[in-house]
Amino acid sequence: MLDKFPFLLHGGDYNPDQWRHIPGTLDQDFRLFPLAGINSVSVGIFSWSAIEPEEGRYDFGWLDEVMDRCANAGMAVVLATPSGAKPNWMAQKYPEIRRQNPHGWCTEPVQELQCGRHNHCLTSPVYRAKVAEMDRRLAERYGKHPALALWHISNEFGGECHCPLCMQAFRDWLKAKYKTLDAMNHAWWTGFWSHAFSDWSQIVTIDTTVEGLELDWHRFVSDSIASFLKNEADALKSVAPEVPVTTNFMGFYEPLDYNRLAKHVDVTCWDCYPAYHDRPDQERSAAGISLAHDLCRSFKKQPFLMMESSPGPTNWMRTNRLLRPGLHRLKSLQAIAHGSDSVQYFQIRKGRGGAEKFHGAVIDHVGDESPRMFREVAQVGRDLKALQGVRGSKTPAEVALVHDWENRWALRNSQGPSEVAKDVVGTGLIPNYLPYWKRGVPVDVISPSDAFAGYKVVIAPICYLVQDGFAEKAEAFVRDGGTFVATFLSGIVDKNMLVYQGGFPGPFRKLFGIWAEEIDYLYPDERNEAAFADGNALGLSGKCELKDICEIVHLEGAEALASYGRDFYTGSPSATLNRFGKGQAIYIAAHGGRDWYDAIHGAIISRLGLRRALEADLPQGVTATLRVADDGTAYTFVENFANEPREVDLGAEARKDMLSGSTLSGKVQLPPYGVLTLESKIGVKNA
Ligand code: GLA
Ligand code: ZN
Repeated sequence: MLDKFPFLLHGGDYNPDQWRHIPGTLDQDFRLFPLAGINSVSVGIFSWSAIEPEEGRYDFGWLDEVMDRCANAGMAVVLATPSGAKPNWMAQKYPEIRRQNPHGWCTEPVQELQCGRHNHCLTSPVYRAKVAEMDRRLAERYGKHPALALWHISNEFGGECHCPLCMQAFRDWLKAKYKTLDAMNHAWWTGFWSHAFSDWSQIVTIDTTVEGLELDWHRFVSDSIASFLKNEADALKSVAPEVPVTTNFMGFYEPLDYNRLAKHVDVTCWDCYPAYHDRPDQERSAAGISLAHDLCRSFKKQPFLMMESSPGPTNWMRTNRLLRPGLHRLKSLQAIAHGSDSVQYFQIRKGRGGAEKFHGAVIDHVGDESPRMFREVAQVGRDLKALQGVRGSKTPAEVALVHDWENRWALRNSQGPSEVAKDVVGTGLIPNYLPYWKRGVPVDVISPSDAFAGYKVVIAPICYLVQDGFAEKAEAFVRDGGTFVATFLSGIVDKNMLVYQGGFPGPFRKLFGIWAEEIDYLYPDERNEAAFADGNALGLSGKCELKDICEIVHLEGAEALASYGRDFYTGSPSATLNRFGKGQAIYIAAHGGRDWYDAIHGAIISRLGLRRALEADLPQGVTATLRVADDGTAYTFVENFANEPREVDLGAEARKDMLSGSTLSGKVQLPPYGVLTLESKIGVKNA
């Protein structure tokens, strides 16, 4: 994608516009860049007032200088459009561009004061026109600049606007979707509490009792952000069609369906802020970050960019603890291991003022190369040079985890049934991902509309809302020999949040061969237990602790893998397996501890012989990931997230560790937070 710059990007958000009144700063920065191995900067992200200080008066001089210096230094510039924060003069002259926030439940929206950022109306034709004009000017001036690598459109899109323009746009969106009020009233079940709409003008942007309205509002907000993004991409491409565009995502950020945005960018990227130093359970938080990397890669099934990460502590976490030595390197290479072609930071230089003056940076207030974190950044710079060959390689996953923003919104908007279940990422995705992470099995994160082709296992945790055609796709997949897994609280509502009639799990009932009758939600301190059935199809034995959610299911052709050990439903199945066509459908009816998911998925991995990055039992806190180049070269990353040494058996084949240059085989000691990148010529071919 970034063919002009054939290296792994190492850089980040850089705000030289804020330093224009302090001479010599650029000289200092450009002296330090090569010392830190910085080969790229992201410029202009919040620079509107520097570029256009008054309406129609432009000052590109400072940006010209930065671009030219970067070109001279052979650096790549990620050039931003400044739409993430509008200037004061514009907010004053055109009040319609100011975002309106909802103010409580069923009250009039209030207009925001001009403060903060990400504070514009998403619909305002005035703001869209101003942004397109700015983008065209940037593209005209820099579209052919030798330093330009990529456009960074706006910044971390998010939030929503409830102004009259957005309200009208929502009504128009609904009219286009439903055509008639009757169709909309039926989809929203508006007979409830006398909410039937007899005119489109009665529709408001918030009513938490009309759950279908809330779900459509979320869809509308994602669509309007996607169209805002497209408006920017079109403006840039109309002048500089050959320059790729991106916009920075925020992992699993719940309010915004990134699938709708990913369509409009050439490369996906995200901003990654792990709190490894702040969590008791390092393994789970490391897996959670790996999962978010996998999500970002899976949008296009091609390498992505880690657009931001913190070289040192942030200034916004509950406890901004220092990164322990080596941790910066580990979390940086973790991104590469999962398919990133960059390690980029927020931020290159700490500001003297403003709200982020205490946030980690490559260049600290001391202003030179002496700080520990500078040296750790420089180490990553050297590592990325050693890993150049990895650039462009892909991740060959045989397992897909299904993640659907609409499913999360549907649960979030729903009155009940369980706070634990509403956390689809924490209760559904991570527990079902960890067993693969611990065994070094590559996983993609797909949306329900993605094809299942090429996967051996597809897992849809808490598949509460079932999209049209999804259950049929799962059936066809299993019939052809696939393994499909879902959990408790699946097959409950359709795409309009209307509950399936005729028994749960709704459209999955035949595939799983079960009827799910009731769900018991436990108090936080309560436990049940699962006992694996004698001679069960996965060959599992023993007992596991269950908690929070226990669904009571009846067998209708499936066999029980395990059964409950307590309460009035003792003996009824807590997990089932149904043979269907050439494949199998596994239903995990209860939530449990780590050993519960580990047992079931561990058996799936070994019985199906799923591809692992390393054929070895990995010790606690260690994972392995795989990238494969088009010529078949395999890159195996082995990462130790424990703050203790760990021994890993690399097997008989002697492989080069690209980071240290040494050739390794057999048992090796990984230091605390240690990483290896093993290169091997006999790789797996990409599909
Ligand atoms: C986000 C933003 C950046 C900065 C960082 C701080 O990712 O995009 O502008 O505020 O957070 O961590
Ligand atoms: Zn608005």
